[in-house]
Amino acid sequence: MPENNFDERTAQTYEAKWPELFDPAVVDPAVSFLAELAGPGGSALELGVGTGRIALPLSRRGVRVHGIELSPAMVAQLRTKPGAETVGVTVGDFATTRAGGDFTLAYLVRNTITNLTTQDEQVECFRTVAAQLEPGGCFVIEVYVPELRRLPPGQTVHPFTVTPEHLGFEEYDVASQIAVSHHYWVVDGRLETRSSPHRYVWPSELDLMARLAGMTLRERWAGWQREPFTSDSRSHVSVWQKAS
Ligand SMILES: C[S@@+](CC[C@H](N)C(=O)[O-])C[C@H]1O[C@@H](n2cnc3c(N)ncnc32)[C@H](O)[C@@H]1O
Repeated sequence: MPENNFDERTAQTYEAKWPELFDPAVVDPAVSFLAELAGPGGSALELGVGTGRIALPLSRRGVRVHGIELSPAMVAQLRTKPGAETVGVTVGDFATTRAGGDFTLAYLVRNTITNLTTQDEQVECFRTVAAQLEPGGCFVIEVYVPELRRLPPGQTVHPFTVTPEHLGFEEYDVASQIAVSHHYWVVDGRLETRSSPHRYVWPSELDLMARLAGMTLRERWAGWQREPFTSDSRSHVSVWQKAS
């Protein structure tokens, strides 16, 4: 089992720590994109469903949603939300856990593929997803493009957020393709810290993982509103499709 980085404290403060993620301007385009791909009467599998930030509004759009989640504390938070009874959850590692049933859509948002910290686990995740998709079904990943170009030679640390309440630094080990995210929040005058390892992964490497699992790239955008993906894009929304 991978390490569970979403403990009780993180689960309880998830929305307070990342309020921008819950902004309707962020959530609504993602939900519309996913609802369209799931199709009328479709069913969706969210890997790392968390507190239901995306699963709950997607379910309200009429898509049947099931989640896989490693952290019981995150599931407990999901269960406190209105409409949570419409979202089934299987507790387990999404690299290997099957929910039972076939889905028209599987999705993995907010950089969560990087929580799998080895290439083997990421490859296994694609295989596990492909096995649960109906023919023609789609797998969507939203993830950042590795920011190695921001590192001058010899430097290993890059600040990704600097505000009075939140400092965040990415600490890169390019040999192992791991970036450790270090967060420092000031909450009620006290310092809270959190560090978690991530395996950053290139779009082309993800395409190869999809191919190994029998899926091909169908679309790649810079964001949920289908902004063009360019050399300057800092993240991408990619859609791979299982053969019909
Ligand atoms: C960044 S949060 C995103 C939660 C939710 N998808 C959202 O968009 O708000 C990542 C979630 O994935 C879960 N997670 C990380 N690695 C996992 C794994 N290997 N298997 C299942 N869940 C995992 C974490 O516990 C956490 O709830």
